[in-house]
Amino acid sequence: MTEVRMSVNGKSVAGDVEGRTLLSEFLREKLRLTGTHVGCDTSQCGACVVHMNGNAVKSCTVLALDAAGADVLTIEGMAAPDGTLSAIQQAFQDHHGLQCGFCTPGMVMSAAALLKENPRPTEHEVREYLEGNICRCTGYHNIVKAIMAASGQDVSAVAAE
Ligand code: FES
Ligand code: FES
Repeated sequence: MTEVRMSVNGKSVAGDVEGRTLLSEFLREKLRLTGTHVGCDTSQCGACVVHMNGNAVKSCTVLALDAAGADVLTIEGMAAPDGTLSAIQQAFQDHHGLQCGFCTPGMVMSAAALLKENPRPTEHEVREYLEGNICRCTGYHNIVKAIMAASGQDVSAVAAE
């Protein structure tokens, strides 16, 4: 076991991990930040997306030791300390961008990364960016709508699937 230290949602954290421990396991099992979901073992579903040093990463593809010293943001860090939802979370709620909610943390984290690099994406750009995030419930339509709404755009013309 080796101690790893990093910043998660603005707090310094530390814990003992094995060389093979994934960042997703460290977040969920050591820190009990279970908002980061694990939906596959093939790096395909995107339920585990977090931000590491400002970039969206699938936390099931990162070793906890490789995140040493990093600045990690998880879904638990998206709302304000008083519980006020971020604009993206609120838009998911307003536009029914979730059903079971399993994919939602990863979707929100991916959406946040997209809007940081492209504040007014087209519908096509949103759909393309979400290729690494699988939703088994919604058909994606309302997720795309929510992300475009969060970017301040009119969503009345977003095509139905
Ligand atoms: Fe990471 Fe599925 S759990 S991509
Ligand atoms: Fe159920 Fe996306 S809302 S998997």
